[in-house]
Amino acid sequence: MVKTHQTPSQPTFANVSDSYQYQPWSITETHLDVSRLNQRETVFTIGNGYLGTRGNFEEGYGSSLPMTLIHGVYDDVPVMYTELANCPDWLSLAFLIEGERFTLDTGEILAYERTLDVRCGLLTRHITWRSPQGKELTFRFERFASLADCHQLNLRCEVTPLNFTGAIEVRASLNGYPANQGYNHWAIVDQGQRGEHVWLHTKTQQTQIDVAMAMGLRVLGLGQSATIDSLVLPGYPTWVARYQGQPHQTVTFEKQVVVFSSHEQPAPLAAALDHGTPSYEQSKLAHIHAWNNLWDQCDVLIEGDVRAQFALRYSLFQILICAPAEDEHVSIPAKTLSGTGYRGHVFWDTELFILPFLVYTQPQTARNLLTYRYHTLAGARRKAHHYGYKGAMFAWESAASGDEVTPRWAVPRDPYGQDVRIWCRDRALHITADIAYASWQYWRATGDDHWMACYGAEMILDGAQFWTSRVTHNPLADRYEICEVVGPDEYHEKVDNNAYTNRMVQWHLDKAIQLYDWLQHHDPQRAAHLDQQLGISDRQRARWQDIVDHIWIPMQGDLVEQCDGFFELQDIDLASYEPRTLSMHSILGVEQSNHYQVLKQPDVLMLMYLMRAAQEFPYGHLEQNWNYYAPRTDITYGSSLGPTIHAVLAADLGLADEAYDRFMQAVLVDLEDVRGNAAEGIHGASAGSVWQAAILGFGGVKFTDQGPVANPHLPAGWTRLKFKLQWRGNWYHFDLQPDHGTVAPAAFVPLSCATVDIRGVIFDLDGVLTDTAEFHYQAWQQLADEIGVPFNREINESLRGVSRQDSLLRILGDHQYSASELEVMMVRKNDHYTQLIEQINPAHVLPGVIRLLDQLQQAGIKLAVGSASKNARAVIQRLGIESRFDAIADGHSVTRSKPAPDLFLYAAQQLQLPPHQCIVIEDAAAGVEAAIAAGMWTVGLGPAERVGKAALVLPNLSNSHWLPQSHWPTMVDQLKQAIGN
Ligand code: BGC
Repeated sequence: MVKTHQTPSQPTFANVSDSYQYQPWSITETHLDVSRLNQRETVFTIGNGYLGTRGNFEEGYGSSLPMTLIHGVYDDVPVMYTELANCPDWLSLAFLIEGERFTLDTGEILAYERTLDVRCGLLTRHITWRSPQGKELTFRFERFASLADCHQLNLRCEVTPLNFTGAIEVRASLNGYPANQGYNHWAIVDQGQRGEHVWLHTKTQQTQIDVAMAMGLRVLGLGQSATIDSLVLPGYPTWVARYQGQPHQTVTFEKQVVVFSSHEQPAPLAAALDHGTPSYEQSKLAHIHAWNNLWDQCDVLIEGDVRAQFALRYSLFQILICAPAEDEHVSIPAKTLSGTGYRGHVFWDTELFILPFLVYTQPQTARNLLTYRYHTLAGARRKAHHYGYKGAMFAWESAASGDEVTPRWAVPRDPYGQDVRIWCRDRALHITADIAYASWQYWRATGDDHWMACYGAEMILDGAQFWTSRVTHNPLADRYEICEVVGPDEYHEKVDNNAYTNRMVQWHLDKAIQLYDWLQHHDPQRAAHLDQQLGISDRQRARWQDIVDHIWIPMQGDLVEQCDGFFELQDIDLASYEPRTLSMHSILGVEQSNHYQVLKQPDVLMLMYLMRAAQEFPYGHLEQNWNYYAPRTDITYGSSLGPTIHAVLAADLGLADEAYDRFMQAVLVDLEDVRGNAAEGIHGASAGSVWQAAILGFGGVKFTDQGPVANPHLPAGWTRLKFKLQWRGNWYHFDLQPDHGTVAPAAFVPLSCATVDIRGVIFDLDGVLTDTAEFHYQAWQQLADEIGVPFNREINESLRGVSRQDSLLRILGDHQYSASELEVMMVRKNDHYTQLIEQINPAHVLPGVIRLLDQLQQAGIKLAVGSASKNARAVIQRLGIESRFDAIADGHSVTRSKPAPDLFLYAAQQLQLPPHQCIVIEDAAAGVEAAIAAGMWTVGLGPAERVGKAALVLPNLSNSHWLPQSHWPTMVDQLKQAIGN
């Protein structure tokens, strides 16, 4: 047998930095190392799937790069076409101590500690500082971007003078002058103050995207003796607090900011001002609760290796804070939302490196990311058309529209240096097959037929159309070829028959055929529609098959040749270039790299990895190909996408040390700045794919028709690897130890079979406890008559469970109104309604409700109301049943209305119960969906057409009784089946 190659003299990444303390859930930076300032700003990035904010100091620092990036907020820029615009800085908090400004680049740092706790998503910093004049103070900062309410940002600072009495001024601002490398994307539209908020409204220069922020400042610990004023500084709304500091007296400042952009909200300023912010503490609790729930599904526990444990959690944290859980129109940029690298453009990094973690833990978010590609189809078609091809040719670098945004040229800093043509924009074709691959894997793992029929199929089939126009037929050899491409290895820029590309095209077309046949059977109408729209016919299908059968994949025996002629290129001994800190590309030069057998990143091995993961025929022999390509791959300074792929394959091959080194190289890439460029932002592909290295590599997980199985080969020192993953609707728990052989799926218990132990019942209000629908109807009708838009009972019926604002938008349809006009209308409708509900009294409680409430109370079940109505509390009071409820979640409690699960989750949180211990009783389709999305048992009241998705459907509560849970088996089975579906 050939000796299996291990990469020589690779760094072990031990003790790279002496300024960190690693704990399983947190990292503490123990002193400020100014030479690493910008790298640490990347490392301490926080976010919530809507935006990301780098770890800048609130008080500022000379060479700092403050940055907040919001998904989808792109603006045009020369050369790079478009980039995520650095948004107004919400962190700014300045301190003047008797006229001396607190910054860490002046005075003396007496104590310093900064901690990121990824379990709770909290960033804290404790400083003791001596001013140039000798005044000493401690500062304790804490910040978080709420995961419970993604529009809400929170920052707290406790300030304690230690050795003086004197005037302290604190300025909390929104800084409307952020820049992307000196370029300011923003026009200030307006600013002002409303009540306890100062606000800032800005607009991107070219794309005209509005961003609005509203900021409040609370001062605690001073009684009445502080003065707080707003300052009108153009583009810089500010609250100023002034007080007389006393030794050892701690004063706390709580800065809370609400942000909206027109990317997700038509009137962002009104939304920001009206949003309503819970107190800092309440907000923090909700945030921690949300993280707790998320980690419950996403955590990977490693025992025996604290640094690997934290670094892995950190990587997953960085993905979770940029993964758009609520937006299907955006995707994760290569550098996440944490820096300017690659300008916020989206690459194959998302689909092949990041997505698997989400597919198996957060499938809804994975779906959003894939649906984003669906929304870019028009851009992909324009690109294909531009190059003279058919179908959809996806952008190598993608942003808002899906048009190609890879810059044409890289321009060197040296004024006499050569501009470099970036060929990926024209030739890195494999992205189209990569998207098809990712869509298929999502489908395979989730069984989401609806998504495949409505979204995935169109991408896969139109991508197939592109390939039919891009392949060429070589008549001499009677084979199909794809010439002049760039494969994953970008050191070779114009190659023929890149094995990765050709095999992925073969795979894509093969799947297109299967999908086409499936769709005709599963959804003939959709199939017919796509046939017509995309020009698919039986002839096309036959041509796809012909290409599958006759596409050329260069091989020599079991060794795959990366592209035609690769083995004839000049060979290289990478070990002879060690030690080095530069990529081989920089050492050899762009042109020369083409002539060597040196790879930027796995190419044939990437293919083998993907085919392994998909359990498809790989071509070639893994060990033989590893032995050839691994030593020729620039795994240290080539691409950060390489190490995790090598880690999985090395684990497969039993190369334990190599697998571990590659894993650590990836997992520490930003924390320890392994490649020296972490300042530009998190390496998203690396952060996402460490999950694959841990689960598929060390855990050896494979997916079978019976469910996932594990075949662990844990690195030396790891005593346990524990995680959950979701496969076809069920959760599987794995708890692996080094001596486990293959672990059969039967060893794992899907969560959906968990024992039911109901502890809480959450009641919707309208249609369940009482019927205010009639009053709502009358109030809407009055408003509609006043403004002259059509309205009737049928339209009213469609508003069940929908929030006031969303109801109004539905009623108005295409009519355009300004934010303030909308606001006035909502107030008017509410006025009508509040007048009407004054008639409500205890007689309006619906039949059966009081008896059921009594029985539930006797059984010790906690009770809550979960209603989208802002008047819910008033109505409950009038009904005379307020005292029966332990919690009321209403239209003030959360931002997103049903069908989002937030309201019920909030109610469960108030009851201090996990979702699966709660039953929701609902009469609206949106409410039933919300309850299911919240992971709760659901009882639907009303016709099955409306609430049929509920586990149990009843006409109303008039005959319902609460039975002791021992009497439940039948009902539980019913509930289980319904939830399982
Ligand atoms: C890699 C690509 C990757 C891109 C963005 C490049 O250096 O070669 O594969 O997609 O970086 O991360």
